[in-house]
Amino acid sequence: MSQTEIRDALRPASVAKVTPQTLLQSKQASIPITALTAYDYPTARLADEAEIDILLVGDSLGTAVLGYENTLSVTMEDMLHHARAVRRGTRRALLAVDMPYGSYQVSVEDAVRNGLRFIKEAGCEAVKLEGGIVRGSHVKALTQAEIPVVGHIGLTPQSVHRMGGYRVQGLSEMAATRLRDDAQALEEAGAIAVVLEGIPRELATQITDSISIPTIGIGAGPDCDGQILVFHDLFSLSFTRTPKFVRSFGNGRSLIEQGIRNFRDAVVARTFPDDGESYHTPKVEVSAEQGASSSKQKEMSV
Ligand code: KIV
Repeated sequence: MSQTEIRDALRPASVAKVTPQTLLQSKQASIPITALTAYDYPTARLADEAEIDILLVGDSLGTAVLGYENTLSVTMEDMLHHARAVRRGTRRALLAVDMPYGSYQVSVEDAVRNGLRFIKEAGCEAVKLEGGIVRGSHVKALTQAEIPVVGHIGLTPQSVHRMGGYRVQGLSEMAATRLRDDAQALEEAGAIAVVLEGIPRELATQITDSISIPTIGIGAGPDCDGQILVFHDLFSLSFTRTPKFVRSFGNGRSLIEQGIRNFRDAVVARTFPDDGESYHTPKVEVSAEQGASSSKQKEMSV
């Protein structure tokens, strides 16, 4: 039995669920695919209701939400905890989750065992892992275990130490050829889509044109089949350096900062809460015959 709780009542019957087949059809029909990260119930629900196609519980959780310096410390338990919250807020979107560093690098068996946990314990519908040719057997085994896999190549944050920092990848002809081969290998292994991160626009276009599964870009130019951004970057809520490819689509930071200041000022000035925001002791009515003992306090709801 699945341990996932899903609030089915909230999904209107008319909303068509996004599946791996939907994504493929979007690529074939040149309909851009939209994707966003989500880490909790309210943001998942807002993004899902705005009809974002893919919600990714990214391991960017580590930097965006948990305050780590990079994604390497994020654990399976962290990811499962947040994936369950996102599951409860997601109806229409395809729900994908990042396999955290250490959950698949040791063996293919680890990858399948941990991939299955995301499906059974958090209700995820796809997993994402980083790497190309080197992950071919992982992708094959996960796919054979009925787990859809999204690949991720180019600037792969879990390789930060090997890359010597977060650097644009695929700049030399040799590196570009390797990335083209990586994308090909992921498609052949059965991946349903591939994230292209931090690579030149021209290379992303070549890869997008050369494989039949959708490419989802982040810092890979506008010609990918879809685009993904980190939720906190979209609303200027990141405390890390924001790369060139990030565009802020709303200043959540100043909105929240101002709201917090307003709250603080109102408490200090004793204007919050006011009388209308307070409960009052009910007036006790006592009839002459009944006496005070039978008077009932009415229950108050909040
Ligand atoms: O962890 C993440 O958020 C990601 C994407 C933004 C692609 O991997």
